[in-house]
Amino acid sequence: MKAKISSLGCFVPPRILTNDELSTIVDTNDTWIVERTGIRSRHIADANVATSDMAVRAAQEALRQRGIEASELDAIILCTVTPDMLFPSTACLVQEQLRATGAWGFDLSAACSGFVYGLTTAAHLVMAGSHRKVLVIGADTMSRIIDYTDRATCVLFGDGAGAFLIEPSEDGDLGYIGFLNEIDGSGANFLKMPAGGSRMPPSAETVANRLHFVKQEGQQVFKFAVRKMSDLCEKALEKYSLSASDVTLLIPHQANKRIISATAERLGLPESKVVINLDRYGNTTAATIPLATRDAVESGRLKKGDLVLYAAVGAGYTAGVNLWRWAY
Ligand code: UT7
Repeated sequence: MKAKISSLGCFVPPRILTNDELSTIVDTNDTWIVERTGIRSRHIADANVATSDMAVRAAQEALRQRGIEASELDAIILCTVTPDMLFPSTACLVQEQLRATGAWGFDLSAACSGFVYGLTTAAHLVMAGSHRKVLVIGADTMSRIIDYTDRATCVLFGDGAGAFLIEPSEDGDLGYIGFLNEIDGSGANFLKMPAGGSRMPPSAETVANRLHFVKQEGQQVFKFAVRKMSDLCEKALEKYSLSASDVTLLIPHQANKRIISATAERLGLPESKVVINLDRYGNTTAATIPLATRDAVESGRLKKGDLVLYAAVGAGYTAGVNLWRWAY
C-alpha cells in the first residue's frame, strides 16, 4: 500500500518582525541580513501563544481542507524542538485541544530535519497498513529560545506551524516514493541549546550565562549543510532510479538562501524548480517545509503527479530527503 499527502494546513502568528526593527535591538542592518541570509522578515508569536497553540491551528486547517473530524485521526506526530514543556509531549496537548479521541502520538525531536523525519515515519505507518490517517505537524516557537542580544542567531529564526495529513493512496503512481535520512552526532556541539536538560539542569548560573538559548557556530553548520544537502539529494534520487531532471520542485528547509542556491546549483536545478520563502518567514525550524509547500500549492507551482524533493539539514547533525509524487 502506498501513502499520500492528502491535505495541508499552516499557521503563522500575525506579528511581523522586520530587519529594520531588529536593527534597533542588535547591531545589524537590513543589507547584511538580506545579503548573508535572504531573510527580510519573520513572524513572532505573542507571549501567551505556545507551540501547541500554533500546531492546533495548522492541524485544524489541514482537517478542514480534507473535510474530516479530528476523531478520525489514528496518530499525531509532532515535530518540534520548542515543546510547550519537556513532558507531557506537545502531541498530547494537541490531541486534547483537537479532541482527536482515537489518536496516539509522540513528539519527534530532529530540529530542522524534524518535518522530513515526521513525513518518513507517517508514510511507513500508513504503508504498514496499521494506520489510515496520520497527522504530521511541524511547529516551533523559536523566539522563545533565541537570544535577542546575539546578532548572529537572532536574525535567522521565526515562529510558525504546518501540518500534513498522510493517508493510503489508491493510485499506485501517486504519493510516497522513499527517503534517505541520516544523523551525525559529531556535529552536536555546533548547534544546540546547552542547558535545561539532564546534562545541565536549570540553575541561576545557567540563566545568568544565557545557556537556555540557541548557540550556533554558523560557519561550521553552513559548510556541512551546503555539502550534505546536495549529496543526500543526489544519493536519494539515485536510490530510487531518478535524476534531478525528473524533479518538478525542490522544497528545501529554509535556513539560508545561500545554502538553498548552492544545493540547487549542484543539482543543476534552475530557480524555477526551487521553492524559497524564507524572505517572509525566516527559519521556522520544523515548520519551514509545510510553509514552503503551502506557498507552492497556492501559487500553482505544485500539481497532481509532480515529483517533489524534500531536503533538510539541521542540529544534531540531522539530515533527510523525502521523495513524494504530489497526489492532489
Ligand atoms: O537551520 C539550522 C541550520 N542552520 C543553518 O543552516 C545556519 C548556517 N549558517 C549560516 O547561515 C551563516 O553562517 C550565518 C547566516 C549564521 C552567518 O553568516 P556568515 O556569512 O557565515 O557570517 P559569519 O558568521 O562568518 O560572520 C561574518 C561577519 C562577522 O564579523 P567580522 O568578524 O567579520 O567582523 C560577524 O560578526 O558578520 C558579522 N555578523 C553580522 N553583522 C551584521 C554576524 N551576524 C551579523 C548580523 N549583522 N546579524
